[in-house]
Amino acid sequence: MTIPSADAMKREAAQQALSRVSAGMRLGLGTGSTAAHFVDLLGARVREGLDVLCVATSERTRAQAKTLRIPLTTLDETPELDLTIDGADEFDANLRLIKGGGGALLREKIVAAASKKMFVIADATKEVQTLGAFPLPVEIDCFGARATRLHIERLANGLGLFGSIVERATASGAPYLTDGGHYILDCAFGVIPAPELLASRLRAIPGVVDHGLFIGLATAVFIGGPDGVRILGDAA
Ligand code: A5P
Repeated sequence: MTIPSADAMKREAAQQALSRVSAGMRLGLGTGSTAAHFVDLLGARVREGLDVLCVATSERTRAQAKTLRIPLTTLDETPELDLTIDGADEFDANLRLIKGGGGALLREKIVAAASKKMFVIADATKEVQTLGAFPLPVEIDCFGARATRLHIERLANGLGLFGSIVERATASGAPYLTDGGHYILDCAFGVIPAPELLASRLRAIPGVVDHGLFIGLATAVFIGGPDGVRILGDAA
């Protein structure tokens, strides 16, 4: 038996999630390679006549959707959505996620929080017992970035979390800037035994705009694996 590539498993998960989309839905479109499969497949359905209205979680996704002529709106025009479909860098059995590897975590969280449901699409390699193998992205304001970073480090150490905190950079070495104009710190804390506690403490730091822990937002995860797609949670 040939084992499908990770990319094929991502696309299959996206395809299954798309089968839950119906006419008239207001959708949030995620960011990243898996979400790009979803947008691509959705574009084909829109060409066939499917009527949906979408909000993109990044300029990248907005550009892709625009090229595919997917009808777009904004959260200002359409503040409540039916469903957001997005990828993840990690997920656990309790549908807790780490996101932000693609740098869009803030808009992804705002859009997911404005949606009745959030379906995560991922290949099986993203499933973990405990979150933290993937460095946690933390989005911070550029003002006082060194002070904010120190604050995060002390907070993490106080919770027994150690590891490198790296300011994300572009290929040319310049600081990476999010769509909102903020920096990202990639925090390689390792296993995060109490994600809820870390999430709330991080949010309380002035200068932290948001972090990549998504808790209580995902309603289902579509997991693409070698034997097809498995669904965790409620995909009704
Ligand atoms: C974008 O900021 C991220 O949250 C992505 O959703 C996440 O990194 C998953 O990306 P891939 O689908 O490319 O793995």
